[in-house]
Amino acid sequence: MPDSWLSDTRTSYDTDASGYAEKVDGLLDESPYLRAGLALFAESVRTAGGGPVADVGCGPGYVTRHLHGLGVDAFGIDLSPEMVAIARRDHPGLRFDVGSMTDLDLADHSITGVVAFWSVIHIPDEAVPGVFEQFRRVLRPGGPLLVGFHVGDETSHSDEGYTGRPISVDTHRRTPDQIAGWLREAGFTIDAELVMRPDERVPGAIVFARSRS
Ligand SMILES: C[S@@+](CC[C@H](N)C(=O)[O-])C[C@H]1O[C@@H](n2cnc3c(N)ncnc32)[C@H](O)[C@@H]1O
Repeated sequence: MPDSWLSDTRTSYDTDASGYAEKVDGLLDESPYLRAGLALFAESVRTAGGGPVADVGCGPGYVTRHLHGLGVDAFGIDLSPEMVAIARRDHPGLRFDVGSMTDLDLADHSITGVVAFWSVIHIPDEAVPGVFEQFRRVLRPGGPLLVGFHVGDETSHSDEGYTGRPISVDTHRRTPDQIAGWLREAGFTIDAELVMRPDERVPGAIVFARSRS
């Protein structure tokens, strides 16, 4: 039987896909640190010899598109079919697949890089080690990984989407130490941790890691 948090997350993003897409429209233009993180990631992919990169939990696909603009062979994967439909509509010519980071439909060591921007925020603690093991399994040795997330130690529940319709989704905040600890246990080396807007109520962070095996 599928986990209820997974089906709740899928249904919620299906319900709210257009609202979310509108909310994040133009976000990268206003986020120099996110762009810098993606530029560093693109450089790591080139240094690793190039190859396919998965944007996992890609939402409407603007990070996938941005990576393409940086010369990266990126494709998107998202749990929500509605979100994937929006990504395909807005970025024709790019590849977007429906799938879950809890069980990636990718062969072992088949991709060069993984980006997971604000998508593991919907994975409960007990399932995070399994997700990071999936990332390690599909990455080639030395392949770079970027994990973006909200900083903190609380879980919040949303029951109304950006379009005002009912949803039911949990969002988990984590510390960079917590994410880095899980990643080390899953077989990653940590290259850097970036905390953005540390004085705001909910800062953002990116952990830069690479697969050890
Ligand atoms: C907050 S949005 C982030 C979207 C995009 N990465 C961004 O930075 O704007 C979270 C996305 O993760 C997706 N997601 C949540 N759980 C997932 C899972 N288990 N596997 C794949 N995608 C998932 C949701 O459908 C949603 O599109």
